[in-house]
Amino acid sequence: DAWLRYAPYPGAEKHAAALPHKIYALNATKSSPVYTAGTELALGLKSIFGLAAAVEYQQTLDYSSSSEGGCLGRKSHLVVGTLDAFDAAEHKVKVPELIEDGYFLDITPKRTLILAKNERGALYGAFEYLNRLAQGNVKSASFASNPDAAVRWVNQWDNMASGGTHGSIERGYGGVSMFFWNGVVREDLDRVHQYARILASVGINGIILNNVNANATLFDDINLRGLQRIGDIFRPYGIRIGLSVRFDAPQSYGGLSTFDPIDASVIKWWHDITDKIYHMIPDFVGYLSKASSEGQPGPLTYNRTLADGANLFARTLKPYGGTMMFRAFVYDHRSLNQTLDWKADRANAAVNFFEGLDSKFDDNVVIQIKYGPIDFQVREPVSPLFAHLRETPAAVELQVSQEYLGQQMHVVYMAPMWKELLDFDLRIDSKPSQLRDVVSGKRWGRHQGGYAAVVNAGLNSTWLGSHLSLSNLYAYGKLAWDPSHTSEDLIDAWTRLTFSHDRAVVDTVRTISMQSWPAYEDYSGNLGVQTLADILNGHYGPNPGSQDGNPWGQWTRADGDSIGMDRTVSNGTGFAGQYPPEVAAMYEKVETTPDNLLLWFHHVPYTQRLKSGLTVIQHFYDAHYRGAAVAQTFVTAWEKLKGKVDATQYDETLSRLVYQAGHSLVWRDSVSNFYFNKSSIADTRGRVGNY
Ligand code: GCU
Repeated sequence: DAWLRYAPYPGAEKHAAALPHKIYALNATKSSPVYTAGTELALGLKSIFGLAAAVEYQQTLDYSSSSEGGCLGRKSHLVVGTLDAFDAAEHKVKVPELIEDGYFLDITPKRTLILAKNERGALYGAFEYLNRLAQGNVKSASFASNPDAAVRWVNQWDNMASGGTHGSIERGYGGVSMFFWNGVVREDLDRVHQYARILASVGINGIILNNVNANATLFDDINLRGLQRIGDIFRPYGIRIGLSVRFDAPQSYGGLSTFDPIDASVIKWWHDITDKIYHMIPDFVGYLSKASSEGQPGPLTYNRTLADGANLFARTLKPYGGTMMFRAFVYDHRSLNQTLDWKADRANAAVNFFEGLDSKFDDNVVIQIKYGPIDFQVREPVSPLFAHLRETPAAVELQVSQEYLGQQMHVVYMAPMWKELLDFDLRIDSKPSQLRDVVSGKRWGRHQGGYAAVVNAGLNSTWLGSHLSLSNLYAYGKLAWDPSHTSEDLIDAWTRLTFSHDRAVVDTVRTISMQSWPAYEDYSGNLGVQTLADILNGHYGPNPGSQDGNPWGQWTRADGDSIGMDRTVSNGTGFAGQYPPEVAAMYEKVETTPDNLLLWFHHVPYTQRLKSGLTVIQHFYDAHYRGAAVAQTFVTAWEKLKGKVDATQYDETLSRLVYQAGHSLVWRDSVSNFYFNKSSIADTRGRVGNY
């Protein structure tokens, strides 16, 4: 159930009398999110308050035809539905302005209204109401809530069955795929219902089901029928399904002699497939494409532009209102040579590849851009590509799967990191241009684009492999809806919903969570050097030695005297110059670059003084000792919660935290010793060196 436990809390039953005894769900067919809202509301009221509220499904609100014959006078009731079905004017209700997916919640002791522009919005309003109730908030309130961004998707990286990995998930740490097994869609899709419920409860409206490293066998008839079943499960939750496409499918799967995106036979092939899909899944949301990246085929194979590639799919989707998400994660790792070329820099790739294309994309293309220019590192600057697309909507790609962030073995609550990124001001044309307003489209006066998160939910009973990791999924959905939420409020709410209202539990989970990203950064990669994980194997444990000479272009250029990527325009790779002038000027100079990104932008001696007064090398030592010490406190803090949270959740979380505490020491010692051996500069506090 994740955070949808609807657990009774002490004293909850006292409120039952004043809560809705009857739920009117308007104009709801069985597959409608309004229908789901009715059943979900009844479930929540019963489970939290022991209140058996009957649901009555009506075409439009009509008390007189109610089974109670219009005698609702004394008892509280609830109405949920779209504005069309409710007729606010007739009922003399003034509804604030709502956009697609938005809702109006009017909670009074007598009558609660959940009204929305579309059916999905009605379900979101119902979940919001239940979220309040489950946290013990039964107060009256009246407010409208509209989503900040139109696109709020998750990307599953589930494999069908490639390379013998049956139903595995790329970067999956929470069990195998709930969708696929042995090359086909699973017969038993029971868990998918529950997953749909969880996603809808935080406002997710689209899901890409399969890995971006895609397998075209999804188009087999047997699989299309399977996808149809999956679509049927998500529909009542207002979530539209979509697929990752493999660019060379017309050739490798369809038997054509080419996959050139401007070839007539290729265009027809994609139109035919898309028509077939929409015939079976009329609300299919669209495609996601990883093309010309990490060995994946793409338009560059034929010297076509990325726009040619994106538009190929966009045109097949257009008649059906589908969206083409085209990933900006385009780079050619074979072209990178660290030893020979001081100016080689993978971070430059996205802007270089997309240069000049902004006006070339069809209007249903969204460019999906990883938050940073490299790859889900513990700290990256915001990708400069966001500042280069004015006409084309963009979506920021975040990662709930903690690939470089402890892989759900370490607790790393990522809301604070995402907030920093979303709040970052790119100063496009020297005007306020926070990332959140760029992706929502506000910066450009439109409501297009938004958010995508890679999520590795699998069949593990915890969904992600660890209880505490789920707060990231909760926070992701909530921030995509409203990026002004604070990280603290989100974790507090999540904790109450997941574990308990107990003050000690809420305080402890907040403390651990809020300290977790800074601690992880302290022991895994300081000063913007990137996560010093093993780049060649698994991206998990410490291996600072693998950070140079690797073929992926994720480098630190550490030698005996100095460290960091020189990304300045004056002497380095030129990457800093990809930002708008004010930001470019800040990153160009050591003095104005924040310490936490120093080594991202500059190559400096280990003895370089930071703004804190410490040298780079001493900061490394101190941070690693500090971060590992903080990780030890997570165990003792959690132990105090014994008996206050569910026993299984307690035990499983404790074992993860004990593991993390130990592994943080491994990180601390590996990284500290590595840089001592490189630099021969001992720790002034006598912890690292030959003593
Ligand atoms: C990372 C990750 C890969 C993934 C890729 C992507 O490089 O390690 O597993 O395929 O990102 O985002 O496409």
